Amino acid sequence: MEKERVELKDVANLCKRRGFIFQDSEIYGGIGSVWDYGPLGVELKNNVKKQWWKSMVYDRSDIEGLDAAILMNPKTWKASGHVGSFQDMLSDCKACKKRFRIDQLKTESCPECGGELTEPKSFNLMFKTRLGSVELDAEDIYLRPETAQGIFVNFENILNSSRRKLPFGVAQIGKSFRNEITTGNFIFRSREFEQMELEFFVKPGEDDKWYDYWVSERINWYSSLGIDKETLRLREHKKEELAHYAKRCHDIEFLFPMGWAELEGIASRTDYDLKKHAEISGRNLQYFDDSSGKSYFPYVIEPSGGIDRAFLAFLVNAYKTETVREKKRTYLSLDNRLAPIKAAVLPLLKSKPEIVEKALKIRDDLRGDYRVVYDDTASIGRLYRRQDEIGTPYCVTVDVDSLSDGKVTVRDRDTMRQERIETAKLKKFIGEKLGI
Ligand code: GAP
Repeated sequence: MEKERVELKDVANLCKRRGFIFQDSEIYGGIGSVWDYGPLGVELKNNVKKQWWKSMVYDRSDIEGLDAAILMNPKTWKASGHVGSFQDMLSDCKACKKRFRIDQLKTESCPECGGELTEPKSFNLMFKTRLGSVELDAEDIYLRPETAQGIFVNFENILNSSRRKLPFGVAQIGKSFRNEITTGNFIFRSREFEQMELEFFVKPGEDDKWYDYWVSERINWYSSLGIDKETLRLREHKKEELAHYAKRCHDIEFLFPMGWAELEGIASRTDYDLKKHAEISGRNLQYFDDSSGKSYFPYVIEPSGGIDRAFLAFLVNAYKTETVREKKRTYLSLDNRLAPIKAAVLPLLKSKPEIVEKALKIRDDLRGDYRVVYDDTASIGRLYRRQDEIGTPYCVTVDVDSLSDGKVTVRDRDTMRQERIETAKLKKFIGEKLGI
């Protein structure tokens, strides 16, 4: 069956209507390309992070975790090269005043109105702020544009405290900020976003082997969580595209509604960062290899993904519509591990206190390890549709028969198949289905 093409506006509408994503400070007119994650969005986002952390830290024994601060000594960004080279070349249209990135322009005049463009100027993407309370003494600092540098500057601390031997990695999830010029496409390119980054330190000479390993691990992670393989592809960076620190880089691209675009980048960063930080800080950031008796800077492989982009890809991938009894049904076929709500308990008749009481008791018994809700605010058909639309894998319905036979109906979101299950076995049944 051919895959349904999903429109970005349909996903964005669902996100707003059902409480996944809201525009930040909307009551004041919002702020460009900054988003708030609502009650369901925070659950889905937390589940994406949880799966990444599990695959990186809990399922392996060669990776440590870290949560470094967003604000860092500004020397960090000189060493990393961000002060000098983290910039876009921009041109403004003299007629319509729109601003464009030179690397994205295909014509010499304005792509919107054909007007003349100004000479390109460079624009640094880092947000600047001030450290200190007295304005005159305050020092310029930056909101971090990537989480990676927090790992490099802690390399020595982690090495000394964990007694690790190469190869080993450090994983981190956290906010990053970029004053992006070309925004749009919903949460795809935001000014405040989250990254999930791994810096994997290896012996020089073993970097190519580990690079290939991480490229395949990372693409498999997305497909293991349900993303269709035909909507994922790898694109290797050409020499002229490579970032200043990279020897090689592959993007994992996803077929978003607006076309193929980067979901995650895997870069071979050599010893660029550790060497630079050692040079500027004056600290010894080399690794002592006791098997060879030599000290050297480890090489680094970096899989760097965006949580918000993964979130969008999982939603686009899961968004499905079909016609059931002449009515359109929209459902999110999310992997059970990602679904914001794992089960909804619904009374068939809310006018019967015994049914309501039993349904509430079932909700209380099921909840604790994952999110379970009770809803009686509409007819059963509408309640099912609501849960389908937010990706709840299982609906548990309590009816009149449940009071005498002790069984409830469990309905599967994707197949809409229903089966009767004994209430006493429900928790185990749902737990096994969820696989968590
Ligand atoms: N440490 C390397 C690094 O930051 P990057 O390619 O600039 O590399 C890595 O960013 C990932 O972060 C991207 O693949 C993307 O998923 C996410 N990302 C980058 N800029 C973003 C933005 N403005 N909005 C949302 N996600 C972004």
